[in-house]
Amino acid sequence: MDLPQLPGKIGIFDSGYGGLTIFRKIRSLLPQYDYLYLGDNARAPYGVRSFDVVYEFTRQAVLSLFREGCHLVILACNTASAKALRSIQQIDLPQWDVNRRLLGIIRPTIETIDSYTDSKHVGLLGTVGTVRSGSYEIEIGKLFPDLKITSEACPMWVPLVENNEFDKPGADYFVEKHIHALLARDPEIDALVLACTHYPMLLPKIRRYTPDHISIVEQGDLVAYSLKDYLLRHPEIEKKCTKGGSMLFYTTEAEDKFEEMASFFWDEPKEIRRIQLT
Ligand code: DGL
Repeated sequence: MDLPQLPGKIGIFDSGYGGLTIFRKIRSLLPQYDYLYLGDNARAPYGVRSFDVVYEFTRQAVLSLFREGCHLVILACNTASAKALRSIQQIDLPQWDVNRRLLGIIRPTIETIDSYTDSKHVGLLGTVGTVRSGSYEIEIGKLFPDLKITSEACPMWVPLVENNEFDKPGADYFVEKHIHALLARDPEIDALVLACTHYPMLLPKIRRYTPDHISIVEQGDLVAYSLKDYLLRHPEIEKKCTKGGSMLFYTTEAEDKFEEMASFFWDEPKEIRRIQLT
């Protein structure tokens, strides 16, 4: 496939706005690079969709970022990391360009998970797709087989964020319901992983309904430090990432809606373009 060969921006993909919680941390740790963020807002949420659909949508998004000149793309989305990462790496990348790289966010999230828990009981909140995939249980089982993981799917949480209702009183009902359900299933949980990039937007409410002794594990910093380490270990990829300190945003929905949400993260004027994925 004929993809641009000159150095390009680092691509960051999410089904919608959630990846902005990861991108914010990446950019504050690694401000020197140029970034292209793509949110498939028109088709979010992905969390309730089947494997085939998440794979196809993610495949289209990643290919469009490569076509825009990215050599390295991060799936800042747990659902896409759980359901599409391996297939794209194994089936598509060899056909597109063996030198492009696609990274997920599940592995960086769990690498230090044992340091957050004394009881060895860890709770996980995620989309239906992430929870049903069992990806976290599989990855944690490889590194820390002594940890007991209990997962709870929270299907209403992403729509609350995508519809800008995350800080409204109505969101409390759904947040409380799932935290109580999870803790009722395993009262020994002392670490709670937010395994969906949208969930940090609900953090004040999540904290409100979570007992103080429970650590809440957010992915942003973990993914940012893991990316920094990756770039140090892979100079052949690092040198293909341009360094102008810029941000560009693509959305499959209206630009003004995206601007409203992105302004929670950055005050500065943003360049936002609407694109179509096929
Ligand atoms: N933010 C994504 C995740 O981390 C996906 C949410 C969705 O589209 O359902 O799983």
